Amino acid sequence: MSTIIYAHRGASKHAPENTMPAFELGYKQGADGIETDVQLTKDGIPVLIHDETVNRTTNGTGSVKDFTYEELLTLDAGSWKSSSYKGTKIPTLDDLLAWNKEKNLKLNVELKNNIISYPDIEKIVIEKLKSYNMVENTVISSFNHKSIALLDSLNVKIDYALLTSKRTSGIISFSKEIHAKGIHIRYRLLSNRLVTNAKQNGLYVAVYTVNNPLSISKVLRLECHAMFTDVPELAAEIKQRK
Ligand code: G3P
Repeated sequence: MSTIIYAHRGASKHAPENTMPAFELGYKQGADGIETDVQLTKDGIPVLIHDETVNRTTNGTGSVKDFTYEELLTLDAGSWKSSSYKGTKIPTLDDLLAWNKEKNLKLNVELKNNIISYPDIEKIVIEKLKSYNMVENTVISSFNHKSIALLDSLNVKIDYALLTSKRTSGIISFSKEIHAKGIHIRYRLLSNRLVTNAKQNGLYVAVYTVNNPLSISKVLRLECHAMFTDVPELAAEIKQRK
């Protein structure tokens, strides 16, 4: 089996996370897929940014949900990382999907709706994926398990997975109940036992965020379905050596 390497927020060690340059770098570094985070602007546009506020990764301040898309476009999402990325904008989900038309990379869209609720974000994202014909190569994930459960009721043939950073008890049975494809777990939860248990229950295991040779090697050794890494080049090199 071949473990999928997702560039976590793009190749986010060397480029500003969740921006087009980070996605492009992930592609160049040999990632099989891109992981990104989606939230909605005040006017309902799906945009790619991890934190609920723009404070850490732009030159602005405030909550993503309180900006219109036009307002978000005035922010610089690159300079905080390096002056060479000055002027980089927060991308929309459309930007990523349009860019991916030729690349055809796998996508993991994480709904960032565990702290702030974004009504209908599930449907909005699915409609976008449909319009770019990218339902099949995408998996949707979230720490908000109710939101992922909602996907089951939408009756759309799309893969989805529960994200967890701590609890694993009950997550396998709940995943099965809602017809999720897998579980996305924090690296420190990774064990042979968990992977075996998940597999026996027909679920895959994907692991975040693995950035050093030891953790990358462990994910590969346990034959996990996927890993999320800020350094796809390193992961691809280790994977090739195995
Ligand atoms: O989706 C995997 C990983 O990105 C989850 O954690 O905090 O980076 O959204 P976080």
